[in-house]
Amino acid sequence: MNTQVAIIGAGPAGLLLSHLLHLRGIESVVLESRTRADIESTIRAGVLEQGTMDILNEAGVGVRMRSEGALHHGIELAFGGKRHRIDLSELTGRAITVYAQHEVIKDLVAVRVAADAQLLFEVSDVSLHAIDSEQPSVRFKHGGEPQQLKADFVIGCDGFHGIARATIPDISRRDYQRIYPFGWFGILVESAQSSDELIYAQHDRGFALVSTRSPMVQRHYFQCDPKDEVANWSDDRIWSELHTRLENRDGWKLKEGKIFQKNIIGMRSFVSTPMQHGRLFLAGDSAHIVPPTGAKGMNLAVADVRLLSIALDEFYKKGQQDQLDTYTETALKRIWRAEHFSWWMTSLLHRFEDASPFQKELQRAELEYVISSRAASTVLAENYVGLPFV
Ligand code: APR
Ligand code: PHB
Repeated sequence: MNTQVAIIGAGPAGLLLSHLLHLRGIESVVLESRTRADIESTIRAGVLEQGTMDILNEAGVGVRMRSEGALHHGIELAFGGKRHRIDLSELTGRAITVYAQHEVIKDLVAVRVAADAQLLFEVSDVSLHAIDSEQPSVRFKHGGEPQQLKADFVIGCDGFHGIARATIPDISRRDYQRIYPFGWFGILVESAQSSDELIYAQHDRGFALVSTRSPMVQRHYFQCDPKDEVANWSDDRIWSELHTRLENRDGWKLKEGKIFQKNIIGMRSFVSTPMQHGRLFLAGDSAHIVPPTGAKGMNLAVADVRLLSIALDEFYKKGQQDQLDTYTETALKRIWRAEHFSWWMTSLLHRFEDASPFQKELQRAELEYVISSRAASTVLAENYVGLPFV
C-alpha cells in the first residue's frame, strides 16, 4: 500500500488532519487500533475554543456542533461562598462552544467515510520504519494480515500512550513533565442544567467543576486522590461532596439526577521535543498533555494539525519545506503558552495537601485579583477562549 501521508491514530488530531489534507487534495491513510464504536463513545472533555470552532466550520464539519453544541459567553469562578462571572465575550470578543469531544469524533469519521477515506480500524502491531529517509513506512496487522504502508510522511497522532513518540531516538528527545498529586472524579448525570455557564470552584476540600453535555445530560468533576477507586464513591457521597464544594450564599444549588457514568482521571503536564524527526511528525497528545483545568487538550491537537496541513500543502504545491522544518518551533510557542495557562488554572483552583498557610493566602489573593481586575480577568479570558493563530 502507498499513500502520501500515513497517519497513526484516529483521535481528533488524526481524523482532522486527514480531512484537512483531503480538502487540499493530499491523500492519506489513517490507522487506528480501536473500533469505530469505541472511538465514537470514549468520554473526554468538551470545550472548543473559538479558533477550533472556526477550523471545524471552515472544514465543513461544524453543522452538528453549531446546532447541538452550546455557545458560552462566560464562565464562573466560585470561591468563598460566592460566584463571580468572567465575561469572556465582553473581555475578548470571542466565545467557546461546549460540545463533547466524541461528538467531534463522530462528525469527523462521518465526513471521512463519506469521502471514501482510507480509515482502517482495529489495526495492531504498528511499527514505523526508515523515518530518517524520504520513503518511510509503517508496518501493521489488519484482520490478522501483515501489511506495509509506504508514505512520504508519517504523522504520529496516536495519543500519549502511542508508539510514534518513542520512535524518535532518546538521544534527540527531551521530555518535560509534571505529575499532579491529585486527579478528577468525573460523573455524567441525567438532569437539567444547573447553570447556564461552566462553574470552576475553589474550596478548602478541593476543586469542583460544573459542566454540561446537553440540556438533559450534565458533566461534573471534583478533585480526588488519583489512586482512589470509583467503587469507593456511592452516589450519595458524590452529591454530598459536590454540594459542599459548591456551597454558596446566593441560593444557587446543583441539580441532582441519575449518575450513569463515573471515572477518575490522573493529571499531568507533559511536553516532548522535538515534535519531528526526519519524515515523522507528532501532533496532539502524542507530543504534549495538559491538565484538563484549562480545557486545552483537544484545542492544542487541532492547532497542531492546522499547522501541519498548511506545511504539507506548501511542500506538495510549491516543493518547499520551510514550514515543515520549523513545525516544532512554531507549534511549541502555542503549546507552552497553553501549558502555562493550564498549570496556572490548576494551581489557582486546586487544594494542595502540602500547601503552607502562606501559599493558601497567595492562592486566595490571586483569585481575588482575577475577579476584581479587568487586566487579570482578561488574561484568564483570552487564554481560555484561545489566542488567535499566528
Ligand atoms: N496504532 C494505532 N492507533 C493508535 C495507537 C497505535 N499504536 N496507539 C494509540 N492509537 C490511537 C488511540 O486508540 C486513539 O484513538 O490513537 C488515538 C489517539 O487519540 P487521542 O488520545 O484522542 O489523541 P489526539 O487525537 O492527540 O487528541 C487529543 O484527546 O485525549 C484527548 O484530552 C485529549 O482532548 C485531547 C485530545
Ligand atoms: C468537560 O465538560 O468535560 C470539561 C469542561 C471544562 C474543562 C474540562 C472538562 O476545563
